Amino acid sequence: MNQSVSIGAERLERRMARGAAFLGAEVAILCGAMSWVSERNLVAAMSNAGGFGLIACGAMTPDLLDREIAATKALTDKPFGVNLITMHPALFELIEVCNRHAVGHVVLAGGLPPTGSIDAIKQNGAKLICFAPALSLAKKLIRSGVDALVVEGMEAGGHIGPVSTSVLAQEILPDVADKVPVFVAGGIGRGEAIAAYLDMGAAGVQLGTRFVCATESIAHANFKKAFIRASARDATASVQIDPRLPVIPVRALKNAGGDLFTAKQREVAQLLDEGKVAMGEAQLQIEHYWAGALRRAVIDGDVEHGSLMAGQSVGMVTKEEPLAEILATLMAEAAHALEKRAA
Ligand SMILES: Cc1cc2nc3c(=O)[nH]c(=O)nc-3n(C[C@H](O)[C@H](O)[C@H](O)COP(=O)(O)O)c2cc1C
Repeated sequence: MNQSVSIGAERLERRMARGAAFLGAEVAILCGAMSWVSERNLVAAMSNAGGFGLIACGAMTPDLLDREIAATKALTDKPFGVNLITMHPALFELIEVCNRHAVGHVVLAGGLPPTGSIDAIKQNGAKLICFAPALSLAKKLIRSGVDALVVEGMEAGGHIGPVSTSVLAQEILPDVADKVPVFVAGGIGRGEAIAAYLDMGAAGVQLGTRFVCATESIAHANFKKAFIRASARDATASVQIDPRLPVIPVRALKNAGGDLFTAKQREVAQLLDEGKVAMGEAQLQIEHYWAGALRRAVIDGDVEHGSLMAGQSVGMVTKEEPLAEILATLMAEAAHALEKRAA
C-alpha cells in the first residue's frame, strides 16, 4: 500500500470508528436485510468479511428465526443482527427469540415501534436500530430510546419512501448525527458515495443491492443475472392504482410481475369495496403478495413473474464476486476519495 492510499485508509477508519464500535464490526457497513436473500450464508459472509450482516426475518415464524440465528452462529463468531418487520403478528415472540440468542442488534422495519417493543428489545441489552423517514420522526425515535437510525432514500431496493437519500441525509444528519449513530442507505453503489455521507456526519452506511450478487448469496442464478444485466433506469417504483388502497411503493426491476401486482391491487381493492376485508387486512394481503413474489424470483428463479426488488445502484453490479471483494472494493474507493480531500 503506498503512502497516499494509507492516508485515505486512515481517514476512512477514523470516520467509521464510531459506527464500527457501535456495531462491533471492523467497518461501519451494514448489509441491509433482504427477505429470502439475507439468510445464514450472506449474513455470515458479511460479518466474516468485517462488515455487519443482518438476518431478514420477513414472514418467518419464531421457530424458523430461532433456527436461522443458530445456523448463522455456526458460520460466524462475529456479530450480526436481526431485522424484524413491525407488522409481523408474532413480533413479540420474535423479539424473545432474539433475546434468547443474545442477538446484539435488532432492526425494526416497516413502521414505528409498537408499544412495548422498545423495552422488550432493550431489556437484555440489545441495541435497537430504526428507520427514520423524516427529521421529526428521527427526533421522536431518539426520544423514545432508539440507539441508532437508518436513513434510507427512495433510490433503494424494496419498500421505499418518497424522498431521495441525498435530501434525507441533508435534512437529518446535521440535527441528529451527534446524538446517535446514523447509517445512510439507498442508492449507494461505490465507495465515493460512502465517503461523502461519512463527511456529512453519517456513522456508516447500509447497502443491499450491491451485495445481492455476492458469491455467497443464495439468490437464484437467474436473479443474479437480471441484476448484472440491469441499469439504474430499470429499477422502477410500483404504482398505486387505487387511491382508496394506499400501498407502500416497492422498487424492483421491470418485468411481467409488475402487471401481476396491478391485478392484485385491483383484487384487494374490490374486496375492500365489498366490505369483505378491513384496511389493515387489505394491506397485509399486499405485503404477503410481495413476500411470495420475491420468493418466486429469489429462490425459484422465476424472474418473469416474481419480484426483482432492486435499487437504482443495480447498474453498478457488474459481476458475481466474493463478498469480501465487494467490501474491499467499496473500502478502497472510499479511502481513495478521502485521500484526495485536503488534509
Ligand atoms: C431484494 C431486496 C429485498 C429487501 N428486503 C428487505 C426486507 O425484508 N426488510 C427491510 O427492512 N429492507 C429490505 N430491503 C432493503 C435493504 O435492506 C436495504 O436497506 C436497501 O437495499 C438499501 O438500498 P440499496 O438497495 O440502494 O443498497 C430489501 C432490498 C432488496 C434489494
